Amino acid sequence: MKRKPFLAGNWKMNLDRKSGVELVRALRDGVGGVGDRDIAVFPPFVYLDEIVRAAAGSNVRVGAQNLCDEKNGAFTGEVSAEMLRDVGVTHVLVGHSERRHLFGEGDELCNRKVVRGLAGGLHVILCVGETLDERDGARTEQVIGRQLTKGLAGVDAGSLERITIAYEPVWAIGTGRNATPAQAGEAHRYLRGVLSGLYDERAANSIRIQYGGSVKPDNVATLMAVPDVDGALVGGAALKADSFLAIVRYN
Ligand code: PGA
Repeated sequence: MKRKPFLAGNWKMNLDRKSGVELVRALRDGVGGVGDRDIAVFPPFVYLDEIVRAAAGSNVRVGAQNLCDEKNGAFTGEVSAEMLRDVGVTHVLVGHSERRHLFGEGDELCNRKVVRGLAGGLHVILCVGETLDERDGARTEQVIGRQLTKGLAGVDAGSLERITIAYEPVWAIGTGRNATPAQAGEAHRYLRGVLSGLYDERAANSIRIQYGGSVKPDNVATLMAVPDVDGALVGGAALKADSFLAIVRYN
């Protein structure tokens, strides 16, 4: 089954108000006619409101890089799914490797964030990926299978249309060393098999699995040609209009 490609740009803690708005305006202009793929950007929290307004009326969706696992209350420094929705955000990343490894977010917390994001009406991109040690120790499948299974605990089949999975091997993120198409294909196939076991084959076949880790204009088409790769989650190459546009328009 053909799934609609989903190209997303994670800005991480980069760009400022002016350069962010300029980038989104350039994307609006550059992808106005692109209807056969989904496009989203993930700016830092403080710019979301303004970026949503800059993207209004276009096919560029705006997502947050994180959310709180609670709905509201005494959680200083946190932002809820409802607040994100309130400013027009439609998507959210959960379990990005930097959240897992630099900020100590474990599978249980990621799961609560997935559940909260869905309850708050957001589309959730759940990120999974193994470290180099885990890959070298032949534990890739064990690790990504666990992250996927625990991350989706309690998520019913009816909510899956608002779930995307991102396979991002930690050793490929920001390193310039992307997974080979064969490595990506193997991991994506494995993840789809796990999804099939958790739900059923039809559900597993409809969920998009993005690849992330050093995706660039010159490797995106090869990666997207892999049958189980349905999109890309892009970091560094999403910070400039020309390179992200080239990625969005791959063929
Ligand atoms: P990268 O980041 O494209 O800079 O490797 C990917 C990501 O962290 O989502």
